[in-house]
Amino acid sequence: MFQNVTPVPSDPILGLLDTFRADPRPDKVNLTVGVYQDDHGTTPILECVRQAELQLLRDETTKDYLGMAGNPAFPHVIPPLLWSGAETPDASCCATFQTPGGSGALRVVADFLHEVTPQATVWLSQPTWPNHPGIFQAAGLRTQDYRYFNPSQSGLDFPAMLQDLQRAADGDCVVLHACCHNPTGADLSDSEWTEVGQLLADRHLVPVLDYAYQGFARGLEQDATGLRVLSRLVPEYFVCASFSKNFGLYRERIGGLLAVGPAPPSVASVASRLRISIRTNYSNPPAHGGAVVVTFLQDSALRDLGMGELSAMRTRIATTRRDFTNMLQSLDLPRDFSFLNRQFGMFALTGLSPNQVRQLNQEHGIYLVGSGRMNVAGLNSSNLERVARAFASVVHRDGR
Ligand code: LMR
Repeated sequence: MFQNVTPVPSDPILGLLDTFRADPRPDKVNLTVGVYQDDHGTTPILECVRQAELQLLRDETTKDYLGMAGNPAFPHVIPPLLWSGAETPDASCCATFQTPGGSGALRVVADFLHEVTPQATVWLSQPTWPNHPGIFQAAGLRTQDYRYFNPSQSGLDFPAMLQDLQRAADGDCVVLHACCHNPTGADLSDSEWTEVGQLLADRHLVPVLDYAYQGFARGLEQDATGLRVLSRLVPEYFVCASFSKNFGLYRERIGGLLAVGPAPPSVASVASRLRISIRTNYSNPPAHGGAVVVTFLQDSALRDLGMGELSAMRTRIATTRRDFTNMLQSLDLPRDFSFLNRQFGMFALTGLSPNQVRQLNQEHGIYLVGSGRMNVAGLNSSNLERVARAFASVVHRDGR
């Protein structure tokens, strides 16, 4: 069998990370995968996490399996965090599962959808995280793009988004990025969320909210706007949350899946099928990441510490965006990069062509994703000017 297998290209993000790690150049710069880095280029373990881990090491009594839904405290602790208090749905209408990262949550939803509504199309923003189509298609679902971003203006194309979503059929699903849109950094405004929510409700579309960056855009509470609007307007939806970024728990693979509906019996039925999807995927989630999150969120001092650390990460990202934009503006380029400073989160779609991305890599050791997406958090006071000058050199060479 093996001899008949042909290779496929590696993952556009994680595959590139492998290439970066193997690159011997000492001054290489990693602007690829969406992982926060501090000004020293390291991805720190948050102090709230470290202290929670010390507590767990001391107090943990067993390594017995968790249930399929994960840590029993998850349903009490996680929804108030995601909704940031206001409008958190009643527990009887919200089934909450601990999942291996946001990706695990997405795959569980995808398998569930394929089971109960195989004819539904899953609508994805164009562009989106490259793993979105992979996950839904691997579950056997059809995906279709809705326009989201206007590359010539480096901004949201809201009329096009609405126009495309009008074409979705009753019962189709729509994947929305709650904040810090990946890869563009272009988010919906509060009023745009309301328009989208209304459209979804009118056309009986089911949102799947990918909520991977809460706290990285405007703050924990403001970043809950999209979720709150959906919960006001749309009767049934899924939330796929990740705690990789906001709590720096990347390799612990910790996320959450929430299914919210109007009535307890239907939510219980959905939950029963989600459990089967979990069982057939990974049986039950790994314990550590969930235990860490629950431990520090339940301890008010550690929670405050964590919120402070999250806000410091957010501030650094915003400041870096501003500094990089100013640096580019000072280099007298034929192209306007001011949009970088209007976007949110770690990602920016730079508008650099695949050839320019290749030149940055080959000539300067600077790694961006092939689409031109950069992780702004990979910039720091030691490399920011060098990266800006390298951008300038490839842009000047092409005259754009
Ligand atoms: C990214 O987009 O870089 C992150 O979401 C990490 C990943 O798994 O791709």
